[in-house]
Amino acid sequence: MSKPYYEFFSPVKILAGHRALEHLGHELATHGVAAPLVVTDRGVREAGLTDQVTAALEASGIQTRAIHDDVPQDSSTRTVADIAERYRSCGADCLIAVGGGSVIDTAKGVNILVSEGGSDFREYSGDGVVKRPLKPFFVIPTTAGTGSEVTSVTIIKCSDTGVKLPSRSQFLLPDAAVLDPRITQGLPKSITAATAMDALTHATEAYLCLGKNPISDAYATAAIRKISANLAAVLEDPSSLDGRLELAQAATMAGIAFSNSMVGVVHALGHCVGARCGVPHGVCMGVLLPFAQAHNLEARRTEIGELLLPLTDTDTYAATPPATRAEAAIARIQDLKARAHELAGFPRTLSETGKVGREDLPHIADSAIDDGALLMNPVEVTRDEALAILESAY
Ligand SMILES: [Fe+2]
Repeated sequence: MSKPYYEFFSPVKILAGHRALEHLGHELATHGVAAPLVVTDRGVREAGLTDQVTAALEASGIQTRAIHDDVPQDSSTRTVADIAERYRSCGADCLIAVGGGSVIDTAKGVNILVSEGGSDFREYSGDGVVKRPLKPFFVIPTTAGTGSEVTSVTIIKCSDTGVKLPSRSQFLLPDAAVLDPRITQGLPKSITAATAMDALTHATEAYLCLGKNPISDAYATAAIRKISANLAAVLEDPSSLDGRLELAQAATMAGIAFSNSMVGVVHALGHCVGARCGVPHGVCMGVLLPFAQAHNLEARRTEIGELLLPLTDTDTYAATPPATRAEAAIARIQDLKARAHELAGFPRTLSETGKVGREDLPHIADSAIDDGALLMNPVEVTRDEALAILESAY
């Protein structure tokens, strides 16, 4: 039966390829801007990535107005206000975010303030508060995972209360995202594996959750195919530009998929494991994904079975009896994790992260059942079921 109604929106222009960075200057010119403020963090700058960006812009005749390289891991309303002030004082006319999820979220917050005025992000927290186009905004992701370059939400921590403040609006979406494999080529194997697992989880949950639709399904399956085909090869040869470009495209496609459907129980549990035990998000995702999907098995047996095709190949799919394809798909995800463990030390279980104690599990289950991501999981998850998933993943 076809879905009675759905919406799909993905207006971010993608500049992708082996020399994609060199096309960014033209993109700025198309928007009539020529004085970017680059927002990044220390690690990205020290890795020389901002130099690559500014050099590519210079080759197009664009001088970077300033580089703000002080975005912390856990950004806040104070950080956003400081960078907005820097933007105004240096006379910038557009923003370029070069970084992972935290940098991109921070730059989205800065764009709200420099476009709408004021210095208090809290005024713009909420759904649909931002109602008009913002300044030209370009994103260069330095990991292949979060998909933040194609999502319409930012979450900024309040400096005073520590409360996480979300702002969601279609106008937060960047004008363009640059996927250039030279930017992710130097990522350590462990981060490559964790961020790819985040993207794999975005695509898988997008394909299984209640908000799934035919267009998000297409992006999700394409993303899964690319990750399945390329993750181990990139971990074996991290300098492979072809493989890096495949993973970058996969992460963006997975981001487009989940931002137009939703996620589910893996993210609900993972958010709480991360908050309580400090396990990186991508590690939580990869560890929990197969165990949590086992919980969805009966409700989504057909759909999980369909994922065996992008997770493997036509011969394997055809040779697997339809009745066991769902189990085979989950086993294939476990195999991917096992390869990531061999090649990059990726933890296979919560205990292997070295950060989660068995005594943490009941507390994680308590908070997970209140996590918003659970609303779109295909089946309800009770507190005891959440605990059982965590036990199985321990
Ligand atoms: Fe995620």
